[in-house]
Amino acid sequence: LSVKKELEKILTTAPPHEFEHTKKDLDGFRKLFHRFLQEKGPSVDWGKIQRPPEDSIQPYEKVKARGLPDNISSVLNKLVVVKLNGGLGTSMGCKGPKSLIGVRNENTFLDLTVQQIEHLNKTYNTDVPLVLMNSFNTDEDTKKILQKYNHCRVKIYTFNQSRYPRINKESLLPVAKNVSFSGENTEAWYPPGHGDIYASFYNSGLLDTFIGEGKEYIFVSNIDNLGATVDLYILNHLMNPPNGKPCEFVMEVTNKTRADVKGGTLTQYEGKLRLVEIAQVPKAHVDEFKSVSKFKIFNTNNLWISLAAVKRLQEQNAIDMEIIVNPKTLDGGLNVIQLETAVGAAIKSFENSLGINVPRSRFLPVKTTSDLLLVMSNLYSLNAGSLTMSEKREFPTVPLVKLGSSFTKVRNYKDDIHVNLESIIEGENVTHFLTVSGDVTFGKNVSLKGTVIIIANHGDRIDIPPGAVLENKIVSGNLRI
Ligand code: UTP
Repeated sequence: LSVKKELEKILTTAPPHEFEHTKKDLDGFRKLFHRFLQEKGPSVDWGKIQRPPEDSIQPYEKVKARGLPDNISSVLNKLVVVKLNGGLGTSMGCKGPKSLIGVRNENTFLDLTVQQIEHLNKTYNTDVPLVLMNSFNTDEDTKKILQKYNHCRVKIYTFNQSRYPRINKESLLPVAKNVSFSGENTEAWYPPGHGDIYASFYNSGLLDTFIGEGKEYIFVSNIDNLGATVDLYILNHLMNPPNGKPCEFVMEVTNKTRADVKGGTLTQYEGKLRLVEIAQVPKAHVDEFKSVSKFKIFNTNNLWISLAAVKRLQEQNAIDMEIIVNPKTLDGGLNVIQLETAVGAAIKSFENSLGINVPRSRFLPVKTTSDLLLVMSNLYSLNAGSLTMSEKREFPTVPLVKLGSSFTKVRNYKDDIHVNLESIIEGENVTHFLTVSGDVTFGKNVSLKGTVIIIANHGDRIDIPPGAVLENKIVSGNLRI
């Protein structure tokens, strides 16, 4: 009850032009919070989790083998591409939207996305729109940049996801005292995860607009996944289902390696496909969950979802997503929680859901500057906004790159590493291709080949001179091998 009162108090501080959407946000939050209070115990019963049946996860090769119909342009015209753009570049040391970080030849994630869709529209003479789901953290900066695409052959739309109040972990009351999200309130609000897309897309009116225009599916993906391009074979599979049964939800999954323990996996649960995340797994079963042999695949968050189904389920209030409780400590030391949901968790609410096991190339997330180093290198070539791994590469896996803490921020990283990464394609021992740690600087046009480890111990500094070529080398302190 006291939360309700607090929320009402906050709402009274909303200026008239913000009243309606603040009310919607706070209503949405209240429902989520109510569910959080009601739910007791784990969200899944481990005993009920089964391996998905054979035909519920199709190999991509099988989907591709069906080929493309002559009318692929009209199929494409029923698609809307949605990128999740609510997140900041904090993990790479940037304050603004992550989508505006330069990743390749000065092109940002957003530039690459626009180029991909523009290329598609030009090639097939279509009108596939791009929709960005922004958050209050990213909306203003993103909109400023969008002007530069005015003349591109891509219509770009945006809508804002909800803004929910963070809750004091002890009192379970909102931290915010009013609707503002600056000054003393800067940390009082948060975007409640990408599961928010269903309600926010519906509330924005865009869902109805696109249905009215004859659009049928959305392709949703993380804007930082450079492998998430529109795949015509998957789209065709959806539009022309082989068994005639329309599929409302496709989750692209890919084979797990031992480095991918974090991602959620698709399981069969009470007769339906269900995404299970590591946070839902009882402690005693975590190792089993992580094992590559039992749960072989994980969610790439590339999702194809029927617009009509989203509308139907949203209107029936039937989209069911587990609540993720995310604990945080604010700058002032206050412990808070934020309640979130994930877009893929809704798979169980849709009819005829399907997993498609796609090649790893469709999952190319850039989460750290080490990932950035790889996508900037000639390990990948850039073509109309899409990155593809060089065919010269002998190993289909990427080299392991470890950069020390002084390179974790994009700015430092870009100023300090001017390396020529030619040899990244054919490095012999690729297990630990590159490790750089401590106070290390690179001159211009340094070439790295094979396995290179550069470690400046505390108090030491290593300057790699311009033009140096390091091949299968360990450089450490004053010791050079
Ligand atoms: P995350 O930060 O959640 O990345 O953002 P992740 O660690 O890979 O998480 P999962 O496994 O996908 O959950 C993933 C994408 O979702 C967007 C981000 O901008 C990014 O593109 N996102 C995240 C939102 O749009 N809104 C949110 O509230 C959270």
